[in-house]
Amino acid sequence: MTHLTSRFIVLFTLILEFAGRSDRNHARLLHKFPSMDSVSVCTRVRFDPNCFGISTIFSYSIQSYINEFQLRVNLVKGKPVQLALLVHGVHGPYKEAFDLDDFWHSVCVSWSQSGGRWALFTDGLVVSRGEGLSSNNIGPGGRFIIGQEQDTFGGSFKKNESFSGSITELYIWDRVLNSSEIYTMEKECSPNSSGPVFKWSTTGNRSLLLNK
Ligand SMILES: *[C@@H]1O[C@H](CO)[C@@H](O)[C@H](O)[C@H]1NC(C)=O
Ligand SMILES: *[C@@H]1O[C@H](CO)[C@@H](O)[C@H](O)[C@H]1NC(C)=O
Ligand SMILES: *[C@@H]1O[C@H](CO)[C@@H](O)[C@H](O)[C@H]1NC(C)=O
Ligand SMILES: *[C@@H]1O[C@H](CO)[C@@H](O)[C@H](O)[C@H]1NC(C)=O
Repeated sequence: MTHLTSRFIVLFTLILEFAGRSDRNHARLLHKFPSMDSVSVCTRVRFDPNCFGISTIFSYSIQSYINEFQLRVNLVKGKPVQLALLVHGVHGPYKEAFDLDDFWHSVCVSWSQSGGRWALFTDGLVVSRGEGLSSNNIGPGGRFIIGQEQDTFGGSFKKNESFSGSITELYIWDRVLNSSEIYTMEKECSPNSSGPVFKWSTTGNRSLLLNK
């Protein structure tokens, strides 16, 4: 038997499991969002290696604009996972991120109203940057839904754009995190970068509404 030396930190971190695609399974953040002129979202995901096509990690809609902010995925058999940000109806390019390998990967995305500048990081390192996504603020009071794309405010999910796999530790900041902050979070395995507006709960406090 091998000798194991470990330091354990026991945190009861909720992992959302989406077993196959559906037009129902989702989680909604119970958080009141302000208007944001920049944003970063970091999360950990594990994709179902047997699910292909378009998939949605999260979607944020406001009453006056449904496709306000989304992280979309294109899963093609035999190819790396491709990620794209969509802001206020402007769809960024799909960029290859990591292999579709049934392992956990961290993903961070950022966007700023200034020039519509965006960046995509996986496993702590930058994958792609660009500009020209919407330069409107992200509107307040919306519905942030994990695992489904919204075709109406908070609903009208479609199986063919849903997520299959696992998602955990989603954090949101109302600012652009820089590459050294993201690298440090990845290295320390901790989302400890100051001031997220939404934190994944490890305390059992309800911050999510689950609906399966
Ligand atoms: C999903 O199906 C709907 C019809 O139900 C269609 O309008 C939509 O374009 C499809 N999405 C993708 C990504 O194929
Ligand atoms: C990244 O952001 C942190 C926190 O705001 C700051 O202390 C640090 O100097 C920044 N690093 C770079 C390279 O911009
Ligand atoms: C980050 O961690 C340090 C030490 O563990 C702690 O003192 C600090 O308050 C944390 N910061 C945030 C924003 O959680
Ligand atoms: C749980 O949420 C309530 C209300 O939002 C807050 O007062 C309380 O401090 C939270 N508890 C923990 C352990 O975070």
